[in-house]
Parts: sequence; structure tokens; C-alpha cells
Amino acid sequence: MKDKSMPITIQHQYSLLKHNTFGLDVKAEQFISYKSVDELVEILAKLRRDGQRILHIGSGSNLLFTRDFEGTVLHSDIRFIEYVSRDSREVVVRAGSGTIWDDFCAEMARNNIYGSENLSYIPGEVGATAIQNIGAYGVEVESIIREVETIEVATGRRRVFQAAECEFGYRDSIFKNRLKGLYIVTAVVFSLSAIPVFHLDYGPLQEFKKLDVAPTAQAIRDAVIAIRQSKLPEPTELGSAGSFFKNPVVSIEAYHQLAARYTDVPHYVVDESQVKIPAAWLIEQCGWKGKRHGGAGVYEKQPLIIVNVHQASPADIMELADMIRQSVFEKFNIPLNPEVNYI
Ligand code: EPU
Repeated sequence: MKDKSMPITIQHQYSLLKHNTFGLDVKAEQFISYKSVDELVEILAKLRRDGQRILHIGSGSNLLFTRDFEGTVLHSDIRFIEYVSRDSREVVVRAGSGTIWDDFCAEMARNNIYGSENLSYIPGEVGATAIQNIGAYGVEVESIIREVETIEVATGRRRVFQAAECEFGYRDSIFKNRLKGLYIVTAVVFSLSAIPVFHLDYGPLQEFKKLDVAPTAQAIRDAVIAIRQSKLPEPTELGSAGSFFKNPVVSIEAYHQLAARYTDVPHYVVDESQVKIPAAWLIEQCGWKGKRHGGAGVYEKQPLIIVNVHQASPADIMELADMIRQSVFEKFNIPLNPEVNYI
């Protein structure tokens, strides 16, 4: 039996203040939250008839609104965590796109299910994790994604992407590139491990390697939360969108030239021809740590993060980001690319 159509609640001239972690007071012409896939399909049909521009957001933890949004902002309230299958090695778990990501990580750690613990405490919702391919402390979410369930915006048709079709890369996926804005993620299916598998190469996590007994997922989760709390601003206290830029990947030749001038350049080898340089280091070398521009500033403990110190305007943040980019390029000849999405 087909669901009866439900009333759609549209909020007009809606403040997005609570929907972007930068804490910018911008407005959407219309805002709609939905609780089911059927509801989303109905909303899309209506918005198509009305010729509305659409922007789908998660919790706005990776967005920079540069102005008011002329169109409809959609938000998923589809929240569930469902256990699909479990054997002695693998646990398959499906989660609704609107599920708070860290609620998912907390539940997995509590149930001794491994794979998401290094990604604990990252702000955002499940749907966006797949689009952004979030990563931290040596793990990217693509390593535990099996399928991404979506609805095509133009037709309302359901399409399931296998992980291999998602073209995942460093903070990248097909949904940010070729198919940007064309599909809305409604659920993600994760393949996690019932047996302990750890990624402990990141600095402070190496301590766990020295222990005689294997740590629990909960112990790793607790350590990751402590690291994040010591380095990253709490969105509720100081507005930001996490790392503002991606860490640039340069050729091995460019790295050697840089290392000849600066003996202490931190770096991670990507493959035999490429090296990743921490943007935080490049930005710090240019003297930006703790600097202010209007209401925006460069976070003292982690200069890769631009913060809303006091009532920053979108222009304050954009100008500061441009100045940082320019000075890093002038000093190191390395272009920085934003990790946050400019809207
Ligand atoms: N560094 C400095 N000065 C500083 C801080 C860091 O020079 O004040 C240098 C150090 O060499 C340090 C290196 O930067 O070893 C890396 O710093 P950190 O470990 O804090 O990580 P990151 O490379 O700056 C990335 C992700 C973070 C993620 C951490 C941990 C990107 C763009 N960012 O940051 O993700 O939490 O690694 O894995 O890849 C996010 O995406 O929003 C985010 C916070």
C-alpha cells in the first residue's frame, strides 16, 4: 500500500544560524526538514514544479554560507541505526542520513564493533560523511562504507551506489564532483568488524601499541575524543568548520626543494611520486597563528582552522582565507584549496 501524502512544512525566510557551525546568521528563502524517503520524494516533486533551487545540508559543519540562499534548503531527519547482518567477522549496519555521526560511533564502540572509533567526535551527520569522505587519525570513512543509498533529485528515483562507484578520494567523492547536487543521500550501509582491527599510527594513539592487552574500541574512541578536544574548537563555544583547507599534495621534487630550504618540513608520503604537507605547518610558517581579521581569526592551537571569534561576517572569513592562501603561495609556491564548501 502506498503511503498517503503528508503535509509538507515549509519555513520561509528561515535563519540558518543553527545549521552552520561557523555560526553565520544567513537566511534561506525556504527550509524543509523531512523524516522519510517517501516524504523527500514528494518534496522534490513539488520543488521541481515550483522551479526551486535546492541545497541539501547536513549539520552545516563543512559549509561557508557566503550570502543568503535563494532557494530551498533541505535537511534530513531520517534517523535510525539498523543491524543488517552479523557473523563472526563482519557486522553490517545501516544508518539513516540524518543520524548524528558521533551517535553512530558511540553505539559501535559500546557494542565492541570496530572500524569507526578513529572517526569519533567528528561533527556532522551520516549522509554527509559519505559525500565528504571524512577522515581522521589514519582512517577515512570510505574504508567502512559498503553502499550509499540515494534519491535522484531530477526524477525522485532510488539509486544505490556501491562503495567502488563512489570514487572516494581524500575528502572527496563522486557526490562532490561529477554528481554534485544530483543525488541526495538517504542512508549509508557500513561494513564493520566484529574482531578488533586498529589503526594506531597517529602520534598519541601509538601509546596503545605498547600495551600488553588489546585496547577496546571504546578506549580508542575515548583517546580520540581527548585529542580532538585538546586541538579543535568546540562548535558550541567557537564557530568554525573544522579544517578550512585540505592538506596539499605536492610532487616529490617540490618536496625536496622545500626540504632543502626548511629542514623540518613535516610530511606524509602519499605514493612514490607524491607527498602531503600539513597546511597547518605552512600557515604557521607564514605567521598566521592567532591572527584576526574583522570578526574572524586563525585558531591559536591549530592554524588550519578559521574561527568566528566575534560576529564574523561571511566576508571576514572569505577575506582571511584569501589572505592566508596568498601568503602561503607567495612563500612556498604551494596552492591551498578549501576543504569547506563555499555556498
Ligand atoms: N602543525 C603545525 N602547527 C600547528 C598544528 C599542526 O605545524 O599548530 C603541523 C604539525 O606538523 C602536525 C601537522 O600539522 O603534525 C598535522 O596536524 P594535525 O595532526 O592536527 O592534523 P591536520 O593535518 O592539520 C588533518 C585533518 C583533520 C583531522 C586530523 C587528524 C585535513 C584537512 N584535516 O588535520 O580533519 O582531524 O588530520 O587526522 O585533512 C577536518 O577535516 O575538518 C579535520 C579536522
